Amino acid sequence: MSTELAIETKGLVKVFGEKRAVDGVDLSVPAGTVYGVLGPNGAGKTTTVKMLATLLRPDGGEARIFGRDVLTEADAVRRRVSLTGQYASVDEDLTGTENLVLLARLLGYSSRVARERAAAMLEAFGLTDAEGRQVKNYSGGMRRRIDIAASILSTPDLLFLDEPTTGLDPRSRNQVWDIVRTVVAHGTTVLLTTQYLDEADQLASRIAVIDHGRVIAEGTKGELKASVGPGTVQLRLRDAGQRPEARRVLAAVLGTEVQQDADPVALTARIGAHDGRHGAAEQAGRALAELARAGITVDNFSLGQPSLDEVFLALTDSGAAAVSTTAGTTTTETHEKKGAAV
Ligand SMILES: Nc1ncnc2c1ncn2[C@@H]1O[C@H](COP(=O)(O)OP(=O)(O)O)[C@@H](O)[C@H]1O
Ligand SMILES: [Mg+2]
Repeated sequence: MSTELAIETKGLVKVFGEKRAVDGVDLSVPAGTVYGVLGPNGAGKTTTVKMLATLLRPDGGEARIFGRDVLTEADAVRRRVSLTGQYASVDEDLTGTENLVLLARLLGYSSRVARERAAAMLEAFGLTDAEGRQVKNYSGGMRRRIDIAASILSTPDLLFLDEPTTGLDPRSRNQVWDIVRTVVAHGTTVLLTTQYLDEADQLASRIAVIDHGRVIAEGTKGELKASVGPGTVQLRLRDAGQRPEARRVLAAVLGTEVQQDADPVALTARIGAHDGRHGAAEQAGRALAELARAGITVDNFSLGQPSLDEVFLALTDSGAAAVSTTAGTTTTETHEKKGAAV
C-alpha cells in the first residue's frame, strides 16, 4: 500500500451488556488528512475513538495506529496520539498560561521553551486576552480551544477530536474549524467525530457514516454525494420567450424531465443518476453547448451536488422515506446553496 495508514481497523467490536455499541467497524484512515466519522447520538463514535486511543479494550476485531496494535503495542500507540480532554487534562483552577506551561513542562520542554510555546499557542488560538484568566471562567468556545491547544502542544501524529464543536455558537465553531485546518496543515492526522453534516463537509476529506455501531457508508464527500445521484442543473435565461425551446433542448441532452420554475426565465433539471457513460459535469457541459448552438442565451448556469444531508437521510433508517423526496424537486433549495457556478 502506497499511502501510510494512520488508522486501520478490522471488525472492531465493543459490547456493553446486551448492547453492541460498536458492531464490526472497518476503517482505513490515510495519514495527513482529516477523516470524519459522522453519526447521530449513540452511534458508537466515542466508543470507537476510546478503543483507538487505547482507553477502552475492544471485545473483538483489531485496530492498528500507524501500524501498531492498540492492544499489544499500546505504549507505542500512546506516544503518537492525543485525545482532546483526555491526556491533556486542563485544570480549571489554573489560568490558560499556567495550564499550557505546566503541560509543556510535563512534555519535557525547558522552562523558557515551555513559556514560549504556551504564549505562541494562546496567540494562535485567539486566547491571548484570556491568558491570565482561570479556565473555569472561560466561555464554552474558549474552553474548547484551550482543550485543543493543550492536546496539540506535543504535535501528535494523530489527534482525536470527539465532537469538538457540539454546543458551540457559530463563531466559536468557525474558530475550531480554523484550528483543525491549521493542525492538519502541520502534518497531524485528525480523526474528527461529528453529528454535523456541514462540519464533515467543511473539514473532512473522507467520511465514514456510522449508525448503530456500523459503518453504513464510506468514501470521499464526492463519492458519498454521488451515491444519491450526480446532481441538478439550474439555469436562468436572458429571454423568457426562449424557455420552451431551452426546455426541449435540455430534455433531449439530459434525458430527464425539466422543471419550469415560477420564475419565467428559470429551468431546473436533475441529471440522470444512471447515465454510466457521462459524469454530471460532462452532461451539464453538453447541455450548455447544445443551448448555445440553438441560439439560446443563458445568463446563469449552475451544477449542484446533492448535499451531505440528503446522503445522510438516504442512508439512515429514519431517512428511508426521505430518499424518495430527494429524488424529486423538493431539494432544489439545498442544491442552490451548494451549487457551484459552472
Ligand atoms: N460505558 C458504557 N456502558 C454502557 N453503555 C454504553 C457505555 N458507553 C456507551 N454506551 C452505549 O453505547 C452506545 C454508543 O455510545 P457512544 O459511543 O457514546 O455513541 P456516540 O459517541 O456516537 O454518541 C450508546 O447506546 C451508549 O448508550
Ligand atoms: Mg460521543
